Amino acid sequence: MRMERNLGMDLVRATEAAALRSGRWMGRGDKIGADKAAVDAMRFSLDSVPMNGVVVIGEGEKDEAPMLFHGERVGNGDGPELDVAVDPVEGTTLLAEGMPGAIAVVAVGERNSFYNWQGLAYMDKLAVGERARGVVDINAPVAYNIRAVARTLNKQVEDVTVVVLDRPRHKDLIRQIRETGARIKLILHGDVSAGIMTAIENPPADILMGIGGAPEAVITACALKCLGGEIQCKVWPRNDEERQHAVDMQIDLEQIYTTKDLAQGENIYIAATGITPGEFLRGVEYFGGGARTHSVVMRSRSGTIRYIDATHRWDKLMRISNMPYG
Ligand code: FBP
Repeated sequence: MRMERNLGMDLVRATEAAALRSGRWMGRGDKIGADKAAVDAMRFSLDSVPMNGVVVIGEGEKDEAPMLFHGERVGNGDGPELDVAVDPVEGTTLLAEGMPGAIAVVAVGERNSFYNWQGLAYMDKLAVGERARGVVDINAPVAYNIRAVARTLNKQVEDVTVVVLDRPRHKDLIRQIRETGARIKLILHGDVSAGIMTAIENPPADILMGIGGAPEAVITACALKCLGGEIQCKVWPRNDEERQHAVDMQIDLEQIYTTKDLAQGENIYIAATGITPGEFLRGVEYFGGGARTHSVVMRSRSGTIRYIDATHRWDKLMRISNMPYG
């Protein structure tokens, strides 16, 4: 049997390019400029990946260019038919404000294997790493889940860390977590990184809880599928209009979407590169004439997790690419 090509190794070039170009916008207070730099670089790099990709998790509709839009074809057209989920800057505000934790991320899976979020942009999420897989239930009380994770990790409840987006909508959730005595790690943005963090080696958090983006839930599911963790989600309408939309689309608000509902494929690749310094990926470090990046590449079928520490030299890169790196 021949060794299959690992597309993740091609994808990481796209996340590196997005990070290299957008990292220069760190702290400049310009979310649009930062995002555009990442999108342009990612689109350019994805075009050389050997696949017939369609963006199914992207950044809006076609008219909102320069986003990588839903339905956009990416790849060099020579390869498998794939769904593509992109977030050229996950944590745009973090990048624009010069705060830690912004990453560039892209995932691919078999065609029609990624959950279609049908215009309902938010989901309630519960994510854990491999050791706590199967012991949590998004319908159960917060305290039940925290105690179950503590038990399975052989920790005291007071040593369990729950990561939550810092939002007014989480006031009650935070109160319930505090009542258990567990530790809370509040984050301003970036619940993809937070979800991944529950499943890496020496995890800085044990559970992700709370409401965040639905597209981000799909990308988190891709990563957790590779890492052996678990995510459970429920669609969370923001208002009556969205609730009516759910009714019209016959979306069951009680349905629990699991890792395999969000990312159904058996052969998922995901790559992410740190843009600003983060807890599991370092940010881009620029030096005279180049930069250093830190990325992770994962594949669900093989279970391989690779961390890639790369150096890039502008003079050489610009001889082989049209990207204005230098
Ligand atoms: P962007 O990078 O698109 O700004 O998303 C950042 C993020 O924090 C996600 O990680 C999270 O899922 C979502 O926004 C939460 O949405 P909101 O900021 O509206 O609560």
